[in-house]
Amino acid sequence: MNLREFLKNQKYDKGLCDIIIDIQMGAIEIFSKLNEEYYDYKGSAGEKNIQNEEVQKLDIIANNIFIEKFKKNIFVEKLLSEENKEPIKLNMGGKYIVAMDPLDGSSNIDVNIPVGSIFSVLKKNPNDFLQKGDLQKLACYVIYGTNTVFVIAIDKQVHSFSLNSLKKEFYLTQKKIQTPVNGNIFSINEGNYKSFSPEILKYLEFCKSLDLKNKRTHTGRFIGSLVADFHRNLIKGGIFIYPKTNDRPSGQLRLIYECNPIAYIAKHAGGLSTNLRHDILKITPTKNHERVAFVVGSKNMVQKLLSFR
Ligand code: AHG
Ligand code: MN
Ligand code: MN
Repeated sequence: MNLREFLKNQKYDKGLCDIIIDIQMGAIEIFSKLNEEYYDYKGSAGEKNIQNEEVQKLDIIANNIFIEKFKKNIFVEKLLSEENKEPIKLNMGGKYIVAMDPLDGSSNIDVNIPVGSIFSVLKKNPNDFLQKGDLQKLACYVIYGTNTVFVIAIDKQVHSFSLNSLKKEFYLTQKKIQTPVNGNIFSINEGNYKSFSPEILKYLEFCKSLDLKNKRTHTGRFIGSLVADFHRNLIKGGIFIYPKTNDRPSGQLRLIYECNPIAYIAKHAGGLSTNLRHDILKITPTKNHERVAFVVGSKNMVQKLLSFR
């Protein structure tokens, strides 16, 4: 069943369905750019974004692709993007606002490692984007990996769709995804080791302990694209940790368009997320590009980490 047929069989809100279709169309365009035989989209665009990060050409291309899609969508009133300082006003009277990371993991483009796109959809509200993640109406991401996969959390359920690149359609591959309650993968950038708090150090010690037969109990995996690290852990069971660091005293990942949508997908797949103090989805953001410490993954693993506090 393709994505359009799937949506037709559900009783989702028409606005949300149209947003999903726009994301699928945008994702197919990005997939094509990433897979062109010879392309000039690699590398830096030679500028920095408002977060003082180097902008890659594909960051800009992906941003423009999705802006153009949402511009024509009467349900989308405003768009907040990682790549734009201020939200972009789109369609007056639209009932939803969309926050996005158009290209996640962009430092991985040049080395042929999966990247993604992440979206969070909220109802229009006087607080604009400063709403708790729990209020999201739709959260989704696309991972451009060995296969291009679209994971959608809507109506308290998580479904995944895979791209058939010849037909240019996404097909339903997994319904009502549930993540394993336990896992053995931990994902953290240990380059930040000297910044880790005692509870994280203790948890890492726990992950690195051996069993009675002197075999390892866990395995470490860190790709450096949040979408790819999260997707693997969602399927196999694992924990992703990006704490506050000396370089990034508030954390590296952005609450509204990276952590919230991923946390929402995790929750409805039976997982858990935290900033080590609160459930991510219960935090009221104070600014649009706010960063947070982020832990997400299999319930028992996140709880084990929290037990070391
Ligand atoms: P983006 O490419 O959208 O700026 O996001 C990059 C993020 C995230 O995808 C990844 O988990 C993290 O940055 C990696 O950071 P480090 O390079 O510090 O490990
Ligand atoms: Mn990102
Ligand atoms: Mn990005």
